[in-house]
Amino acid sequence: FSSWFQQMRTHHPVFYDEPSQQWQVFRYRDVVAVLTDTAHFSSQHNTQAGSFFEGTVIAKDPPEHRHMRNLVNLAFTPRAIGRLTQTITSITQDLLEPILPLGHMNAVSDLAVPLPARVIAALLGVPAQDWDILQRWAQTEHLTSQQRPTSPQASQQFLQNLQQEMFAYFAALLKERRRTPGEDILSLLSQAEVDGERLSEDALLRFCVLLLGAGQETTRNLIATFLWCVTEDPALLQRLIREPEMVPAAIEEVLRYLPPIWSLSRRTTTEVELAGQRIPAHQTVQAWISSANRDPEYFSRPDQFDIQRSPNRHLAFGHGIHFCLGAPLARLETQIALPLLLSQLKGLQRVRNDEPITATLAPLLTITRLPLSFQ
Ligand code: HEM
Repeated sequence: FSSWFQQMRTHHPVFYDEPSQQWQVFRYRDVVAVLTDTAHFSSQHNTQAGSFFEGTVIAKDPPEHRHMRNLVNLAFTPRAIGRLTQTITSITQDLLEPILPLGHMNAVSDLAVPLPARVIAALLGVPAQDWDILQRWAQTEHLTSQQRPTSPQASQQFLQNLQQEMFAYFAALLKERRRTPGEDILSLLSQAEVDGERLSEDALLRFCVLLLGAGQETTRNLIATFLWCVTEDPALLQRLIREPEMVPAAIEEVLRYLPPIWSLSRRTTTEVELAGQRIPAHQTVQAWISSANRDPEYFSRPDQFDIQRSPNRHLAFGHGIHFCLGAPLARLETQIALPLLLSQLKGLQRVRNDEPITATLAPLLTITRLPLSFQ
């Protein structure tokens, strides 16, 4: 992929792709321009009826975006996220304990899938006995794009049923939290006010579903790609075990090198010029984060995986007004869990003759299986 991106950046930085009828944007500065210029590049097309993200903060443009973001920000304060430190540590420990005596694990199903699912459950105040439900929703991977039933009708029916199931679950949970509020974000947000306005019940339920969609598969893939990258290079692995304080920089480099979300889509509101190309109104534009993150104008030796890289202004969490709300949580979660794993699983290495590691690439990079062994 990296040489294809390089070619596109050099020869076709803003490219109309006939088969998909979409405009593709490859250079760092143009990706930033698309994400910054919300007047010309709208996020609202995510609001197609029936879309999981319909009416949520990720599918809003200014000025509505600011109001909703201010409200949901109240739940993602450094204090609220910091409170999860202990929870994340004990969830990680609970997941590692049963596999420690085994000497092998599938890092995806044993850690990368259940950890983010349980952390979001804790954030939302979902009781432990229901964690499996959230994990099942996460594992079906249908919140975003993967492996839907093949016929369009079956797919739509499936998504509708899933959405109804999630709404009904969160509606019941919200009712309970209103009766007995806790420190979870559902309790917080049901009372939060900005300019005298609250989130409607519908908006709150949709936000819960957005968090499941935005926060699980992405963090899951960050954990998996991190473990993939460090087991590629035994010297790097040894260094991170010796110097766990380097893990945060390594996480940032994984985010740059193999970002969980490869592209973000926008829709033009009017005709607009980008890097000398005229893009007509009402066109879909894909801004390629994964290519921007390898742009040599912004990163020296971009195809080299280098945990010492500084500065490392990757775009894995997006840019501008939609910059990932959950970035501090994703960072905290991985900065706690990964050093714990590295310190406890001695002699960690990739099982190379096991079933191949499979990765699929939609707008999301997904490692579906990652067998590791240890002593
Ligand atoms: C937005 C990436 C984890 C919640 C975004 C965007 C990106 C992104 C690229 C921008 C979308 C756009 O501009 O259209 C990631 C990555 C993650 C991660 C790579 C993990 C490694 C999380 C987590 C949560 C979360 C853990 C919450 C629990 C959100 C929300 C938005 C968002 C609510 C929308 C913000 C807005 O529109 O103002 N994320 N995300 N994300 N993310 Fe994340």
